[in-house]
Amino acid sequence: MCGIVGGFRRDGAVVDSLVDGLRVLEYRGYDSAGVAVVDERGLTVRRKAGRLAELEGEIKDGALNGASIGIGHTRWATHGPPTDRNAHPHTDVAGRVALVHNGIIENYLELRDELTAAGVELLSDTDTEVLAHLVGRELADAGDLAEAVRRALVRVEGYYAIAVVARGAEASMVCARHGPPLCVGVTDDAAWLGSDVLAILPHTREVIFLEDGDVAELGPGSVRIVRPDGTAAERAPKTIEWDAEDAGKGGYPHYMLKEIYEQPDVLAQTAFSRLDLDRGDVAFEGDLWDDEFLSRLERVQIAACGTALHAGLVTSYMIERLAGVPVDVDYASEFRYRDPVLVPNTLALAISQSGETADTLAALRLATALGARPATICNSIGSTMVRESESSILIEAGPEIGVASTKAFVAMVVAGYMLAVRTARARGRIDADAGRTLLEELRLVRPRLESLLADDAVERVRGIAERHHDAKGFLFLGRGINYPIALEGALKLKEISYVHAEGYPAGEMKHGPIALIEPGMSTLVVAPHDDVAEKVLSNIEQVKARGGEVICVGSDPDCLAVADEALEVPHTGSWLSPVLNVVPLQLFAYFVALKKGCDIDKPRNLAKSVTVE
Ligand code: AGP
Repeated sequence: MCGIVGGFRRDGAVVDSLVDGLRVLEYRGYDSAGVAVVDERGLTVRRKAGRLAELEGEIKDGALNGASIGIGHTRWATHGPPTDRNAHPHTDVAGRVALVHNGIIENYLELRDELTAAGVELLSDTDTEVLAHLVGRELADAGDLAEAVRRALVRVEGYYAIAVVARGAEASMVCARHGPPLCVGVTDDAAWLGSDVLAILPHTREVIFLEDGDVAELGPGSVRIVRPDGTAAERAPKTIEWDAEDAGKGGYPHYMLKEIYEQPDVLAQTAFSRLDLDRGDVAFEGDLWDDEFLSRLERVQIAACGTALHAGLVTSYMIERLAGVPVDVDYASEFRYRDPVLVPNTLALAISQSGETADTLAALRLATALGARPATICNSIGSTMVRESESSILIEAGPEIGVASTKAFVAMVVAGYMLAVRTARARGRIDADAGRTLLEELRLVRPRLESLLADDAVERVRGIAERHHDAKGFLFLGRGINYPIALEGALKLKEISYVHAEGYPAGEMKHGPIALIEPGMSTLVVAPHDDVAEKVLSNIEQVKARGGEVICVGSDPDCLAVADEALEVPHTGSWLSPVLNVVPLQLFAYFVALKKGCDIDKPRNLAKSVTVE
């Protein structure tokens, strides 16, 4: 949801760094891009609708070279279509201030009317432009950019991460956050800001995550932070362990494919260092994961969005059956408006790759306000959800850049499984031997995951995807713990190949979706060899009897035998079959999208991190 970068470097070479930063953050939004730089000639803005490459074409004349201070933006439109004039940065009337923004200014109409009444001509359709004018007006009065930003933000309702530069005697760079993420890093010779730590990492591993309400003034070697009331604040930097190269494509044609291939290692990173096989238990850090809280737990309330919600659904089966604790799973966007009733001793569990998704964060806050104990399964150290949770399970999946989430899903399911085992142990539902057997299964799954990524297995999925890519529509069916896998398979296909796909519980097909079945319609059925395999077999027969084509993904030999196409998945204990079954579905979506010539890593209309409602 928009990417923001900023740099202040003594050597006067900021433009290339801004473009590099925007390239890393383009996954956050990519319908237009822009930069603003300040040098002795003044303030210069260049912005362009379309991908970053369009902007690069605009600035290749070298006119911005030599500037020391600059900000940049890559946009995911909320207010106004993706045009040149709506692209950020936006400037004030005097052309003194340039500002980039991620988020939504909720009272922008009121502020816009006020500015118009004062004779200001607004040049864009965005909510952002009013902020540039407000800062410009305050700057005329305050004379200091950080103070001007602080005063302007007092007038603003909504959510924002902003970066601002201004020309003048004291050229400076300021940023602020309330809601969407923003982090900063300084070295002796430079200062950097970014929506994501990935934009800072090429310059320093020591990163400060700003808190809501922070206004930060940055210069080489210096960060000064003030709170909305003007008081100073100190924020300790965190050391980031990732390498910048981890965020590269590593020789793969797409991030999504690279991230699919990383899944066996991700499973190991999420799980192996936390397994205590002697005790048949899991070692998590955090008060909410200890026996005292988990043994008193009465309910788990999961809230999440999209793929993370599907991981939450899988987790709910595990916690309910292994630990005997009731679990509710809600779309975060529904939970926050349904006046939920929570019982005492509820664990509110937000699941999120980014830790910044606006709906999930709001749901977590609401559940906390209703008395639940907040916790997060998350991939982003330093994210708002992690910071607002009493305890977190960091999934350690590394940076996930492809907009279609893959490895984070597998890591979330693995984390959910470990939480289920930990809770079952804390409540005495299983003994050390049973816990050990369950956890050892994680070690067995890794080579099975690898086998699904062997060349012949992947080529088989490619062949099936190429034969079916033009189907009239796709139905994904699954039962029990693999029902969420059907949802996830359909979501992946929709997201990146723009074809209609529905995920359904297999037993529910006869109550409606069966009407869709006809020749030319493809149905993907998830069929592990488990206690409901026979039922799934009947569902396959029902589809075939109506002329539909069935692609079976799983380990059940009977289901695989009757299907038109079979993608065999190694058998594993039923709890972890979702981790395996999802892989051919991810690859299927990838190869359909590839065949259709879609932009796999940057699908239309989507953004990696949805920090607006
Ligand atoms: C996944 O492929 C999607 N891009 C999307 O559904 C995503 O899972 C959702 O927006 C939640 O994001 P989060 O995990 O960062 O909270």
